[in-house]
Amino acid sequence: MHMSQPDMPNRFPFTEMPTGWFAVAASHEIAPGTVKPIHNFGVDLVIYRTASGKAVVTDPYCPHLGAHLGYGGTVEGEAIRCPFHHWKFDTAGRCTSVPFAPTPSGAKLKIWPTAEHNDMILVWHDLQGRAPTWEMPDFEKTLAPELCDFATYDGLKTYPQEVLENGADWLHFNTIHQTRQLVGRVDAKSDGAHHLIFRFETKDMENDSAMDHFRGGVDFYGPGYARNLSWGKSFPNITVENSVYVTPIDQGTLQIRSMHRVVPDNADVPLENLKQIFAVLGPEITRQLEQDIVIWEQKAYLPHPMLAASDGPILKYREWYKQFYPTDPVESKAVA
Ligand code: FES
Ligand SMILES: [Fe+2]
Repeated sequence: MHMSQPDMPNRFPFTEMPTGWFAVAASHEIAPGTVKPIHNFGVDLVIYRTASGKAVVTDPYCPHLGAHLGYGGTVEGEAIRCPFHHWKFDTAGRCTSVPFAPTPSGAKLKIWPTAEHNDMILVWHDLQGRAPTWEMPDFEKTLAPELCDFATYDGLKTYPQEVLENGADWLHFNTIHQTRQLVGRVDAKSDGAHHLIFRFETKDMENDSAMDHFRGGVDFYGPGYARNLSWGKSFPNITVENSVYVTPIDQGTLQIRSMHRVVPDNADVPLENLKQIFAVLGPEITRQLEQDIVIWEQKAYLPHPMLAASDGPILKYREWYKQFYPTDPVESKAVA
Protein backbone atom coordinates (compact mmCIF):
# COMPACT_ATOMS: atom_id res chain seq x y z
CA MET A 1 0.00 0.00 0.00
CA HIS A 2 1.23 3.48 -0.79
CA MET A 3 2.21 5.41 2.30
CA SER A 4 1.98 9.18 2.16
CA GLN A 5 5.19 11.03 2.92
CA PRO A 6 5.22 12.79 6.29
CA ASP A 7 5.91 16.23 4.78
CA MET A 8 3.22 15.87 2.12
CA PRO A 9 0.15 17.97 2.94
CA ASN A 10 -3.09 16.12 3.56
CA ARG A 11 -4.78 17.81 0.59
CA PHE A 12 -8.19 18.29 2.17
CA PRO A 13 -8.30 17.35 5.87
CA PHE A 14 -12.05 17.94 6.22
CA THR A 15 -13.84 14.94 7.68
CA GLU A 16 -17.38 16.19 8.25
CA MET A 17 -19.93 18.04 6.18
CA PRO A 18 -20.84 21.37 7.77
CA THR A 19 -24.19 22.35 9.26
CA GLY A 20 -26.32 25.00 7.56
CA TRP A 21 -28.40 25.93 4.52
CA PHE A 22 -27.22 24.65 1.13
CA ALA A 23 -28.72 25.22 -2.31
CA VAL A 24 -29.98 22.03 -3.99
CA ALA A 25 -31.72 23.54 -7.03
CA ALA A 26 -32.55 26.86 -8.59
CA SER A 27 -36.25 27.66 -8.22
CA HIS A 28 -36.81 27.73 -11.98
CA GLU A 29 -35.49 24.17 -12.32
CA ILE A 30 -38.33 22.72 -10.22
CA ALA A 31 -41.72 23.73 -11.64
CA PRO A 32 -44.95 22.74 -9.82
CA GLY A 33 -45.56 19.03 -10.37
CA THR A 34 -41.85 18.24 -10.83
CA VAL A 35 -40.36 15.23 -8.98
CA LYS A 36 -36.62 14.77 -9.30
CA PRO A 37 -33.99 12.49 -7.70
CA ILE A 38 -30.96 14.37 -6.36
CA HIS A 39 -27.81 13.35 -4.54
CA ASN A 40 -26.25 15.62 -1.94
CA PHE A 41 -24.48 15.27 1.43
CA GLY A 42 -23.55 11.72 0.46
CA VAL A 43 -27.18 10.53 0.30
CA ASP A 44 -29.96 10.11 -2.23
CA LEU A 45 -32.85 12.53 -1.89
CA VAL A 46 -35.95 13.56 -3.81
CA ILE A 47 -37.03 17.10 -4.52
CA TYR A 48 -40.55 17.95 -5.63
CA ARG A 49 -42.86 20.93 -5.89
CA THR A 50 -46.55 20.77 -5.06
CA ALA A 51 -49.37 22.18 -7.20
CA SER A 52 -49.56 25.28 -4.98
CA GLY A 53 -45.77 25.83 -5.31
CA LYS A 54 -44.26 24.48 -2.10
CA ALA A 55 -40.79 22.94 -2.64
CA VAL A 56 -40.10 19.81 -0.58
CA VAL A 57 -36.95 17.71 -0.11
CA THR A 58 -37.47 14.22 1.25
CA ASP A 59 -35.68 10.93 1.82
CA PRO A 60 -36.29 8.86 -1.31
CA TYR A 61 -37.55 5.50 -0.07
CA CYS A 62 -41.21 4.83 0.53
CA PRO A 63 -41.78 3.36 4.02
CA HIS A 64 -44.19 0.79 2.55
CA LEU A 65 -41.88 -1.41 0.47
CA GLY A 66 -39.02 0.90 -0.36
CA ALA A 67 -39.78 2.22 -3.84
CA HIS A 68 -37.73 5.27 -4.83
CA LEU A 69 -40.10 8.24 -5.10
CA GLY A 70 -37.77 10.00 -7.53
CA TYR A 71 -38.44 7.42 -10.26
CA GLY A 72 -42.10 7.50 -11.19
CA GLY A 73 -43.41 9.30 -8.11
CA THR A 74 -45.99 11.96 -8.96
CA VAL A 75 -47.27 15.14 -7.39
CA GLU A 76 -50.97 15.05 -6.58
CA GLY A 77 -52.09 18.42 -5.31
CA GLU A 78 -50.14 18.97 -2.10
CA ALA A 79 -48.92 15.37 -1.83
CA ILE A 80 -46.45 13.02 -3.49
CA ARG A 81 -47.69 9.62 -4.66
CA CYS A 82 -45.42 6.57 -4.63
CA PRO A 83 -45.16 4.87 -8.05
CA PHE A 84 -45.37 1.35 -6.63
CA HIS A 85 -48.65 0.98 -4.65
CA HIS A 86 -49.81 4.61 -4.73
CA TRP A 87 -49.42 5.52 -1.07
CA LYS A 88 -49.54 9.29 -0.69
CA PHE A 89 -47.51 11.51 1.62
CA ASP A 90 -48.14 15.15 2.51
CA THR A 91 -45.45 17.86 2.64
CA ALA A 92 -44.76 17.02 6.31
CA GLY A 93 -44.06 13.40 5.25
CA ARG A 94 -47.22 11.93 6.81
CA CYS A 95 -48.95 9.13 4.91
CA THR A 96 -52.40 10.46 4.00
CA SER A 97 -53.79 7.74 1.79
CA VAL A 98 -53.37 4.02 1.10
CA PRO A 99 -55.47 2.37 -1.64
CA PHE A 100 -58.17 0.01 -0.31
CA ALA A 101 -56.96 0.25 3.31
CA PRO A 102 -56.87 2.58 6.31
CA THR A 103 -53.69 4.68 6.51
CA PRO A 104 -51.13 3.23 8.93
CA SER A 105 -50.44 5.78 11.65
CA GLY A 106 -46.66 5.36 11.85
CA ALA A 107 -45.86 5.58 8.13
CA LYS A 108 -43.71 8.64 7.58
CA LEU A 109 -41.16 9.95 5.13
CA LYS A 110 -38.27 11.98 6.52
CA ILE A 111 -38.63 15.52 5.18
CA TRP A 112 -35.56 17.76 5.21
CA PRO A 113 -36.00 21.38 6.35
CA THR A 114 -36.48 23.18 3.03
CA ALA A 115 -36.71 26.90 2.28
CA GLU A 116 -36.77 29.08 -0.79
CA HIS A 117 -35.02 32.44 -0.94
CA ASN A 118 -33.67 34.55 -3.80
CA ASP A 119 -34.79 32.02 -6.44
CA MET A 120 -32.92 29.17 -4.82
CA ILE A 121 -34.22 26.06 -3.07
CA LEU A 122 -32.19 25.43 0.07
CA VAL A 123 -31.95 22.48 2.41
CA TRP A 124 -30.82 22.52 6.01
CA HIS A 125 -28.12 19.89 6.49
CA ASP A 126 -27.04 18.84 9.94
CA LEU A 127 -25.31 15.54 10.64
CA GLN A 128 -26.73 15.58 14.15
CA GLY A 129 -30.29 16.18 12.91
CA ARG A 130 -30.79 19.50 14.68
CA ALA A 131 -33.41 21.99 13.43
CA PRO A 132 -32.39 25.21 11.64
CA THR A 133 -31.07 27.90 13.97
CA TRP A 134 -31.26 30.80 11.48
CA GLU A 135 -32.95 31.72 8.19
CA MET A 136 -31.50 32.95 4.93
CA PRO A 137 -32.48 36.59 4.18
CA ASP A 138 -34.44 37.70 1.11
CA PHE A 139 -32.75 40.25 -1.16
CA GLU A 140 -34.19 42.57 -3.82
CA LYS A 141 -35.79 40.94 -6.85
CA THR A 142 -34.09 40.91 -10.25
CA LEU A 143 -35.43 43.70 -12.43
CA ALA A 144 -35.40 41.81 -15.73
CA PRO A 145 -34.35 38.26 -16.65
CA GLU A 146 -31.72 39.55 -19.09
CA LEU A 147 -29.91 41.21 -16.17
CA CYS A 148 -29.28 37.89 -14.45
CA ASP A 149 -27.32 34.78 -15.35
CA PHE A 150 -27.01 31.44 -13.65
CA ALA A 151 -24.57 28.52 -13.99
CA THR A 152 -24.01 25.21 -12.21
CA TYR A 153 -20.59 23.54 -11.94
CA ASP A 154 -20.96 19.92 -10.93
CA GLY A 155 -18.65 17.28 -9.50
CA LEU A 156 -15.76 19.58 -8.57
CA LYS A 157 -13.04 18.00 -6.43
CA THR A 158 -13.08 20.48 -3.59
CA TYR A 159 -14.91 21.53 -0.40
CA PRO A 160 -17.37 24.30 0.59
CA GLN A 161 -14.91 25.96 2.98
CA GLU A 162 -12.19 26.10 0.34
CA VAL A 163 -14.32 27.78 -2.30
CA LEU A 164 -15.79 30.44 -0.03
CA GLU A 165 -12.33 31.20 1.42
CA ASN A 166 -11.61 33.20 -1.73
CA GLY A 167 -13.81 35.97 -0.34
CA ALA A 168 -11.22 36.38 2.45
CA ASP A 169 -8.26 36.05 0.10
CA TRP A 170 -7.99 39.60 -1.19
CA LEU A 171 -4.53 39.12 -2.64
CA HIS A 172 -5.75 36.57 -5.19
CA PHE A 173 -7.92 39.24 -6.85
CA ASN A 174 -4.77 41.22 -7.60
CA THR A 175 -2.76 38.25 -8.83
CA ILE A 176 -4.77 35.53 -10.56
CA HIS A 177 -7.70 37.81 -11.52
CA GLN A 178 -5.57 40.88 -12.23
CA THR A 179 -7.93 43.37 -10.66
CA ARG A 180 -6.69 46.50 -8.87
CA GLN A 181 -4.87 46.30 -5.57
CA LEU A 182 -7.42 45.96 -2.82
CA VAL A 183 -7.38 46.78 0.85
CA GLY A 184 -10.11 45.64 3.15
CA ARG A 185 -11.58 45.34 6.57
CA VAL A 186 -13.86 43.09 8.52
CA ASP A 187 -17.20 44.83 8.83
CA ALA A 188 -18.71 45.12 12.29
CA LYS A 189 -22.28 44.96 10.97
CA SER A 190 -22.41 41.18 10.84
CA ASP A 191 -25.83 39.93 11.82
CA GLY A 192 -25.65 36.92 14.12
CA ALA A 193 -22.98 34.26 14.32
CA HIS A 194 -23.78 32.78 10.92
CA HIS A 195 -23.18 36.07 9.05
CA LEU A 196 -19.74 37.50 8.34
CA ILE A 197 -19.06 40.64 6.27
CA PHE A 198 -15.87 41.85 4.62
CA ARG A 199 -15.60 45.14 2.75
CA PHE A 200 -12.73 46.31 0.54
CA GLU A 201 -11.74 49.02 -1.90
CA THR A 202 -8.93 49.90 -4.27
CA LYS A 203 -5.87 51.25 -2.54
CA ASP A 204 -4.82 54.07 -4.87
CA MET A 205 -8.04 56.10 -5.09
CA GLU A 206 -6.07 59.37 -5.35
CA ASN A 207 -5.39 58.64 -9.03
CA ASP A 208 -9.08 59.27 -9.68
CA SER A 209 -9.36 56.90 -12.59
CA ALA A 210 -12.55 54.91 -12.93
CA MET A 211 -11.04 51.66 -11.66
CA ASP A 212 -9.52 53.42 -8.65
CA HIS A 213 -12.97 53.88 -7.24
CA PHE A 214 -13.88 50.25 -6.98
CA ARG A 215 -15.49 49.05 -3.77
CA GLY A 216 -16.47 45.51 -3.07
CA GLY A 217 -17.60 43.23 -0.35
CA VAL A 218 -18.59 39.76 0.55
CA ASP A 219 -21.37 38.64 2.85
CA PHE A 220 -21.08 35.08 4.05
CA TYR A 221 -24.29 33.45 5.28
CA GLY A 222 -23.40 30.15 6.90
CA PRO A 223 -21.13 27.50 5.39
CA GLY A 224 -22.79 27.26 1.96
CA TYR A 225 -23.31 30.72 0.55
CA ALA A 226 -21.40 33.93 -0.12
CA ARG A 227 -22.79 37.06 -1.74
CA ASN A 228 -20.14 39.15 -3.48
CA LEU A 229 -21.07 42.75 -4.18
CA SER A 230 -19.24 45.38 -6.25
CA TRP A 231 -19.68 49.10 -6.74
CA GLY A 232 -17.58 51.22 -9.06
CA LYS A 233 -17.24 54.74 -10.35
CA SER A 234 -17.63 53.40 -13.89
CA PHE A 235 -21.06 52.00 -13.04
CA PRO A 236 -22.71 54.54 -10.73
CA ASN A 237 -25.91 53.67 -8.84
CA ILE A 238 -25.57 50.01 -9.72
CA THR A 239 -24.70 47.05 -7.53
CA VAL A 240 -23.16 44.04 -9.24
CA GLU A 241 -23.89 40.83 -7.38
CA ASN A 242 -22.27 37.44 -7.68
CA SER A 243 -23.93 34.88 -5.44
CA VAL A 244 -21.98 31.67 -4.93
CA TYR A 245 -23.66 28.61 -3.46
CA VAL A 246 -21.52 25.60 -2.55
CA THR A 247 -23.18 22.26 -1.82
CA PRO A 248 -21.52 18.91 -1.03
CA ILE A 249 -22.39 16.04 -3.34
CA ASP A 250 -20.25 13.52 -1.49
CA GLN A 251 -17.24 13.95 0.76
CA GLY A 252 -14.75 15.56 -1.61
CA THR A 253 -17.14 16.46 -4.45
CA LEU A 254 -18.95 19.72 -4.74
CA GLN A 255 -21.57 21.59 -6.72
CA ILE A 256 -21.19 25.32 -7.25
CA ARG A 257 -24.17 27.41 -8.29
CA SER A 258 -23.19 30.85 -9.42
CA MET A 259 -25.73 33.59 -10.03
CA HIS A 260 -24.71 37.05 -11.13
CA ARG A 261 -26.85 40.08 -11.85
CA VAL A 262 -26.93 43.86 -11.81
CA VAL A 263 -29.26 45.70 -9.45
CA PRO A 264 -29.99 49.44 -9.80
CA ASP A 265 -29.92 51.51 -6.61
CA ASN A 266 -32.90 53.53 -7.82
CA ALA A 267 -35.55 53.57 -10.57
CA ASP A 268 -33.76 56.29 -12.57
CA VAL A 269 -30.99 54.04 -13.87
CA PRO A 270 -31.80 53.41 -17.55
CA LEU A 271 -32.26 49.77 -18.54
CA GLU A 272 -29.74 50.29 -21.35
CA ASN A 273 -27.00 51.18 -18.84
CA LEU A 274 -27.79 48.10 -16.80
CA LYS A 275 -27.57 45.91 -19.88
CA GLN A 276 -24.22 47.41 -20.86
CA ILE A 277 -22.71 46.83 -17.43
CA PHE A 278 -24.10 43.31 -17.36
CA ALA A 279 -22.59 42.56 -20.78
CA VAL A 280 -19.12 43.59 -19.56
CA LEU A 281 -19.14 42.28 -15.99
CA GLY A 282 -21.03 39.02 -16.58
CA PRO A 283 -18.24 37.36 -18.60
CA GLU A 284 -15.67 38.83 -16.18
CA ILE A 285 -17.33 37.14 -13.19
CA THR A 286 -17.45 33.83 -15.08
CA ARG A 287 -13.80 34.20 -16.12
CA GLN A 288 -12.72 34.75 -12.51
CA LEU A 289 -14.72 31.81 -11.19
CA GLU A 290 -13.30 29.44 -13.78
CA GLN A 291 -9.74 30.58 -12.99
CA ASP A 292 -10.38 29.70 -9.36
CA ILE A 293 -11.83 26.25 -10.12
CA VAL A 294 -8.48 25.06 -11.49
CA ILE A 295 -6.77 26.20 -8.27
CA TRP A 296 -9.40 24.71 -5.94
CA GLU A 297 -9.35 21.27 -7.52
CA GLN A 298 -5.56 20.92 -7.27
CA LYS A 299 -4.57 22.81 -4.14
CA ALA A 300 -3.97 21.51 -0.60
CA TYR A 301 -5.63 22.93 2.49
CA LEU A 302 -2.83 24.02 4.80
CA PRO A 303 -4.12 24.23 8.38
CA HIS A 304 -1.16 26.47 9.22
CA PRO A 305 -0.54 28.58 6.11
CA MET A 306 2.45 30.87 5.87
CA LEU A 307 0.70 34.22 5.54
CA ALA A 308 2.19 37.54 4.43
CA ALA A 309 1.21 41.05 5.53
CA SER A 310 -0.60 41.59 2.22
CA ASP A 311 -2.97 38.65 2.76
CA GLY A 312 -6.63 39.10 3.62
CA PRO A 313 -8.22 37.88 6.88
CA ILE A 314 -7.98 34.21 5.96
CA LEU A 315 -7.50 32.99 9.51
CA LYS A 316 -10.39 35.15 10.69
CA TYR A 317 -12.59 33.48 8.05
CA ARG A 318 -11.40 30.00 9.03
CA GLU A 319 -12.01 30.68 12.70
CA TRP A 320 -15.56 31.82 11.85
CA TYR A 321 -16.22 28.85 9.53
CA LYS A 322 -15.21 26.32 12.22
CA GLN A 323 -18.53 26.78 14.05
CA PHE A 324 -20.36 25.02 11.20
CA TYR A 325 -18.64 21.66 11.71
CA PRO A 326 -20.18 19.31 14.23
CA THR A 327 -16.62 18.44 15.26
CA ASP A 328 -13.36 20.21 14.53
CA PRO A 329 -12.35 19.03 11.02
CA VAL A 330 -8.61 19.14 11.55
CA GLU A 331 -8.77 17.66 15.03
CA SER A 332 -10.86 14.65 14.01
CA LYS A 333 -8.59 13.87 11.05
CA ALA A 334 -5.55 13.91 13.33
CA VAL A 335 -6.89 11.03 15.41
CA ALA A 336 -8.20 9.04 12.42
S1 FES B 1 -43.52 1.00 -2.00
FE1 FES B 1 -44.50 2.90 -1.95
S2 FES B 1 -46.55 2.44 -1.92
FE2 FES B 1 -45.60 0.52 -1.88
FE1 LIG C 1 -11.60 34.42 -7.21
